[in-house]
Amino acid sequence: MADLEEQIEALWPRAGELGPDDADALAVVSEVIDLLDRGEVRVAEVDAARDTVVVHEWLKHAILLLFRLRAMETVELGPFEFADKLPLKHGFAAAGVRVVPGASARWGAYLGNGVICMPSYVNIGARVGAGTMVDTWATVGSCAQIGEDVHLSGGVGIGGVLEPAQAAPVVIEDEVLIGSRCMITQGARVGRGSVVGEGTILNPSIPVFDAETGEELGRGHVPPWSVAVQASRPRQFPGGEFFLPCVLVLRRLTEGQRHDKAQLNDVLRAHGVSV
Ligand SMILES: CC(C)(COP(=O)(O)OP(=O)(O)OC[C@H]1O[C@@H](n2cnc3c(N)ncnc32)[C@H](O)[C@@H]1OP(=O)(O)O)[C@@H](O)C(=O)NCCC(=O)NCCS
Repeated sequence: MADLEEQIEALWPRAGELGPDDADALAVVSEVIDLLDRGEVRVAEVDAARDTVVVHEWLKHAILLLFRLRAMETVELGPFEFADKLPLKHGFAAAGVRVVPGASARWGAYLGNGVICMPSYVNIGARVGAGTMVDTWATVGSCAQIGEDVHLSGGVGIGGVLEPAQAAPVVIEDEVLIGSRCMITQGARVGRGSVVGEGTILNPSIPVFDAETGEELGRGHVPPWSVAVQASRPRQFPGGEFFLPCVLVLRRLTEGQRHDKAQLNDVLRAHGVSV
């Protein structure tokens, strides 16, 4: 692995000169993308001791190099035509993953055992943990890190981040429920077991307040075991008072507790109903 990392970091400064004729470079990069695809490496992870997100930049470099090294290709499927540089992911049955027609995941995305993809999109470098539901029209951006037993409800937009290489991707920790049509972007983070209400916008500029105390808990980070919803805060501008979005933690769950609405989702899902 260290050897692969060294090879990628040696290629990276030469990225501008590389192209589809560089077969040796493509072989090295493809090996790394296969590791991502199988979930043997990951672009980012939570360092539990320091409670921070650690980004493995060399893996992002590998993905960016891949775009340089692969040529455009036209693929036809019935009446559809696609033109892209990257192939799609394969081997779903062997991985124990259910992929409904209309869903697609790119090669280099990892989907854990028991993942269900309703018609949705999972981009390269993203990681979706075992037992997670990616519901209809949800998009999981490049390098986003989605935990186990998560529910990304219909239309959720999880932002991707490839550049700059040091930028942290979105991290959704285990057992989270993200309500329909939320937009979570730019390295925002949702802590384990939390429930985020429909239509919430979360990014590192958005303050998160505790409804009980009024305290600002931070920006772009919903703490673990919280029930959080979209709210707005007044802000004075030269032109008058306007309201900007914020996130409000309505209440805290005890560790391990499932919010009753999340439980309902579990029941529906166990019976094969997408919610
Ligand atoms: C976030 C959520 C869990 C809150 O549920 P809850 O803890 O039962 O909270 P309540 O319904 O008791 O609402 C508490 C307050 O928050 C408000 N609120 C509830 N959901 C809200 C939301 N999504 N955005 C903003 N405010 C919300 C309510 O109006 C209520 O205000 P009030 O006290 O003045 O009446 C719930 O909105 C939810 O389950 N969202 C996800 C649903 C979803 O997308 N499911 C997947 C697809 S089916």
